[in-house]
Amino acid sequence: GVDKKILVIPGDGIGQEVTAWGQKVLETIAVNYKHNFVFEEGIMGHVAIEATGTPLPDETLEKARKSDAILFGAIGHAKYDNDPTLKVRPEQGLLKIRKELGLYANLRPIKLFDELLEASSIKPEILRGADILFFRELTGDVYFGEKKRSEDRNTASDLMIYHRYEVERIARKAYEAARSRRKKLCSVDKANVLESSRLWREVVQELAKEYSDVETEHMFIDNAAMQLVKDPKRFDVVLTANLFGDILTDEASQIAGSMGMLASASIGDSVGFYEPIHGSAHDIAGKGIANPLASILSAALMLDISFGLKNESLRVIKAVEATLKQGYRTMDIANKHTENHYVMGTDAMGAKVLENLN
Ligand code: NAD
Ligand code: IPM
Ligand code: MN
Repeated sequence: GVDKKILVIPGDGIGQEVTAWGQKVLETIAVNYKHNFVFEEGIMGHVAIEATGTPLPDETLEKARKSDAILFGAIGHAKYDNDPTLKVRPEQGLLKIRKELGLYANLRPIKLFDELLEASSIKPEILRGADILFFRELTGDVYFGEKKRSEDRNTASDLMIYHRYEVERIARKAYEAARSRRKKLCSVDKANVLESSRLWREVVQELAKEYSDVETEHMFIDNAAMQLVKDPKRFDVVLTANLFGDILTDEASQIAGSMGMLASASIGDSVGFYEPIHGSAHDIAGKGIANPLASILSAALMLDISFGLKNESLRVIKAVEATLKQGYRTMDIANKHTENHYVMGTDAMGAKVLENLN
């Protein structure tokens, strides 16, 4: 077996409820396959602001640097969403840890389990067979460009900025992934309007020559948002910038049935960071009804990408599939029109996955 140190950062809201199950799945895999996973916990987000005054305490960052992988939940609290004047905000913790750890590539696989064909609001015949891998750039763009507010507070700006090396390094990762998939890459930008997108497109066009075995397509973001629901099967690897990728992947969650199904891996210079794409979900937090599968599938990505444990990763995905086949559903993926569905809460659903792992 392998020895690994895993930092768990549950965060806020449903982050705490679902991450417990991602961790339990990793613990079960460790026992079943005789690995030694040592878990540590770190705080980030609203809980960290309450405890220390800052959304990402140095102690959490230090633990992150010393770990072999990180399992993260979500951060966010209604208090800040409702008061845009607050200067210290939970989301700053997440942005800072991504930047500090050099996590520039956010992989968001959109894979539809056949059992969930009816869970989406999109017609089954449009969805069947959809399988997309998003490469969302994660440490640049308007997220990290200079922010300004005029002295009279009446004017504000966020700089949308990209450097050639930032585009090139994530584009290479996306091309490499396309090579081991269906060899199609769609780069999404707004090059008809934005200078940063024109740089993006230039860089991808240059790389396209180097990766001539991969079919490259360029698409504008507005069209991509439409094509994604019109014909999701036309996409294989989608490469895009930070903000566009944030928005497109929430939209794409409907291809997989729910926000509660989408896992992600953030990779780059060093340690891998694994998290659901969803947030802390104030509307359902504390009710015990959040879908834990996105966290569990994030754990599966960790096993595969950070630890190279392909069999173990596949075992987790199979356990999720088996659970769905047995008809177990959290509220977000339940289909009112189907009998033989057992709608349950977070803990009952997580427990079913664990049963299927044994
Ligand atoms: P959200 O992703 O938290 O929720 C959007 C919708 O999806 C809600 O209706 C929610 O109930 C549902 N949903 C999300 N995850 C689910 C799950 N596992 N099971 C069932 N339903 C689920 O987005 P939001 O409401 O726009 O944001 C809430 C807070 O989360 C904000 O403070 C925001 O800043 C933060 N946020 C954090 C992250 C993150 O930590 N990575 C991501 C997005 C939003
Ligand atoms: C995500 C979230 C974050 C983002 C926020 C909370 C900073 O929406 O992980 O998708 O925009 O990247
Ligand atoms: Mn998001």
